[in-house]
Formats: sequence, C-alpha cells, structure tokens
Amino acid sequence: MSTLSNPVNWVLAAVLGYISYNYFSGSGTKTPPAAPRPRPPALVFKEYTPKELAEFDGRTEDTRILMAVQGKVFDVTRGRNFYGPDGPYGNFAGRDASRGLAKNSFDKAMLSPLDGPIDKLEDLDDDDKESLANWAEHFEGKYQLVGKLIENKA
Ligand code: HEM
Repeated sequence: MSTLSNPVNWVLAAVLGYISYNYFSGSGTKTPPAAPRPRPPALVFKEYTPKELAEFDGRTEDTRILMAVQGKVFDVTRGRNFYGPDGPYGNFAGRDASRGLAKNSFDKAMLSPLDGPIDKLEDLDDDDKESLANWAEHFEGKYQLVGKLIENKA
C-alpha cells in the first residue's frame, strides 16, 4: 500500500494540520492579551495641602492614590486593593492617615477636616506613637515618597 492510500496517514495528517493551525493562528482556547491599563503621568516630589491631597483618592481607575503619614505623602496607587473606593482602607485615600494608623482605627473620626489645620498629634500616648512609627516604616519601605503635607492656604 502506498503512503497516500493508507487511511492511517490521512488521519495523522488531519490531526497534525489541526494542531499546527491552532498553534500558528493563535486561535483555539487562547484568550486575547488584555489591553494595558492607562498609566497616570509620573509624579514629581511636591507639597500638598490637605485639600489638594484629597483629589488623589483613587475615585477613578486611572487616578493615583496618595496618602499622608506623619507629614510625608506616599503614592499608594499599587495598593489599590487596600485604598481604592471598595478597599478596606479606602477612608485613608487622599487623606492624612496618621491618627488612624497611630490608633489602629479606620473610624471616620480619625480623619481631620479637609479645610482645617493639620493634626498635630500632640495627644498621642507612647503606644500610639510606636504604632505610628511602625506604620511609617512600613510605608517608607513599600511606597514611593512623592511629597510633603503642608497647611491649607488661607
Ligand atoms: C479586623 C482586623 C484586621 C485585619 C484582619 C486586617 C488584615 C490586614 C491584612 C491581611 C493586610 C495585608 C498585609 C500585607 O499583605 O502586607 C493588612 C494591611 C493593612 N492594614 Fe489591616 N487588618 C485589620 C485591621 C486594621 C486596622 C484597624 C487598620 C487601621 C489602621 C488597618 C490598617 C492596615 C494598613 C494600613 C495595611 C497596609 C496596607 C499596605 O501595605 O498598603 N488594618 N491588614
């Protein structure tokens, strides 16, 4: 029997054809690559008042999330799961989180009013101060420092 007339060879050729078609055409079960997320522009170190900081609360997918700890402003955008609108710590997004971190509380009362002075944290006890210092170290090690918190302009 010649190669062409052997039905086994026809079946093998069909299987091989099917596999190579899927491989080279990229069809089959492969999903198309996801479109890259739009990246916000790079941030230059600058000063933020509490009101300006509040703009960076991650309310939309393509905006940065900033957060202040002890006067330092960090870009916590890559922690969107924590600080995004549906995240467990979303209350800290765009805010001075110092008191909440010191007291280990995300109670709304821990946030100072946006149009008021910066919280001086003068009443913190030793435990609070230690907690805040530990958190500050965590943020410094994990996120980029992008600015300094300054008083609202009169
Ligand atoms: C019910 C108790 C709590 C549980 C089970 C919990 C759980 C967690 C977990 C699993 C992480 C992620 C750790 C990691 O992957 O590095 C985390 C991070 C964090 N938690 Fe909590 N937490 C609790 C309470 C709190 C409270 C009361 C605060 C208020 C200050 C808080 C603030 C944070 C912050 C700021 C982070 C760091 C997120 C980051 O690295 O950007 N947590 N927590």
